[in-house]
Amino acid sequence: MVSQKPHNVTARERLPVAVPIASKPRGFVKGVMAMQRNALFVLPRIAFTQPIVSGKVVRRFHMVMDPESLKRVLKDKAADYPKSEESQAMLRPALGNGLFLAEGAHWRWQRRAAMPVFAPRNLTALTPVMTEAAEAAAGRLVGRRGPVDLYQEMLRTAFEVIAAVSMSADTAIPRDIAHRAIDRYLATAGRASVLDILQVPNVVPRPTRILGAALVADLKRAADRAIEARRAAVREEPKPLLDLLIEASDPETGREMTNEELRDNLLSFLVAGHETTALALSWSLYLCAFDESVQDRAREEARAVLGTRAAEAEDVPKLGYVRQIIEEAMRLYPPAAMVSRTATAPDMLRDREIRAGDLVLLPFYALHRNTCVWDRPDAFDPDRFAGDVDRYAYLPFGAGPRVCLGMGFAMQEAVIVLATLLARYRFRAVPGKEPDPVMILSLRPDGGVWLEVEPL
Ligand code: HEM
Repeated sequence: MVSQKPHNVTARERLPVAVPIASKPRGFVKGVMAMQRNALFVLPRIAFTQPIVSGKVVRRFHMVMDPESLKRVLKDKAADYPKSEESQAMLRPALGNGLFLAEGAHWRWQRRAAMPVFAPRNLTALTPVMTEAAEAAAGRLVGRRGPVDLYQEMLRTAFEVIAAVSMSADTAIPRDIAHRAIDRYLATAGRASVLDILQVPNVVPRPTRILGAALVADLKRAADRAIEARRAAVREEPKPLLDLLIEASDPETGREMTNEELRDNLLSFLVAGHETTALALSWSLYLCAFDESVQDRAREEARAVLGTRAAEAEDVPKLGYVRQIIEEAMRLYPPAAMVSRTATAPDMLRDREIRAGDLVLLPFYALHRNTCVWDRPDAFDPDRFAGDVDRYAYLPFGAGPRVCLGMGFAMQEAVIVLATLLARYRFRAVPGKEPDPVMILSLRPDGGVWLEVEPL
């Protein structure tokens, strides 16, 4: 199945950066070492040309790149494929049993409690925060000489948005503390993940986890202070996420969230909502500099809608091409490039027998670049998203009951920030400074996204 129209470009066209996939298997020890550097080194070449790759390394695993089977795992049979405990282990010290990691009834009521904040009406009420952050990001670029690391700029921008939406400015966790702690935590704790996924026994040291513990303690203390402050604060509209969680109760039991549950959820939102959106924006900017004809077309659209003012909620539906760029950026560089599940019941995925206990890897990076699913999968072409795309061929936000809760929020934010920046600046690639896509928990541009920024 090919889910988007072919394209009339020569075969020798330039391609944007990609993860270098080894042509031969690396062997166990070398493989684990390579995966510590970049979790996507777990992918063999055939994951980009086959629908399912099965094997056994310590335990049975299946990598699923087939849209039909992905629908089964994520939606139709979701209850038989819970999030795998091993791959969540590195997040649990920080996120506890919050929405992101919880399962069953505990997950369900927390999801219901958090949902109103992402309802379209509330989303519109929250957009001024995004417009303000976009304005601030554009302002920080004024008068900058020489290349700028747009990845750092986008991290800061996305953090401002999620912190303001979660806590409201007066009672927030001091942003620099939270930002630093989350950033360092993700950079260190994430590295243990491959050992966990492979279930390498705990006697193999995970030194980074020790470093993680002190940071986690800092984060938890800061979150506790924010919760205390919100409990005491006067309520305001639109309600910050933390207020909605404080007010929420389980419809079945009437129970409210404990301080610990509030903290787990607050941190889940900060972690889930901050880096991912920054990555979508950073990779979009990299690609705009990679293909300036795309950038020019997007700028024309942004200028026609905005002039040079910052984008607002009602502009978003008119910024269709800017949105297509972000969608294409998340196809080539899905921020959550791979998630995993554990099968709890026997099943068949195409011709594969799945046994209870098998690890099911969902490498969205390989799905999005799989030749059975996409034409010229490694090429950058935002026009792929001009029409409809098969729902299960493109999964940057996952799907089914555990689909990203912040999907609409993240897209709204990304369109507002990217359109605002493109209306005011031209971004040019810096030769020899291409980012390296490395998955450490999320798919990051290692080395940063360094671009020349030219005011218009
Ligand atoms: C471009 C930005 C984002 C991307 C690519 C992204 C991606 C994802 C993915 C793939 C999942 C599903 C994981 C799985 O099935 O194992 C997920 C879940 C989640 N995301 Fe996002 N996300 C983004 C932004 C956000 C934002 C802004 C928020 C909150 C403000 C958020 C909150 C969540 C939460 C709470 C979950 C867990 C939902 C559940 O398990 O019920 N995300 N995200």
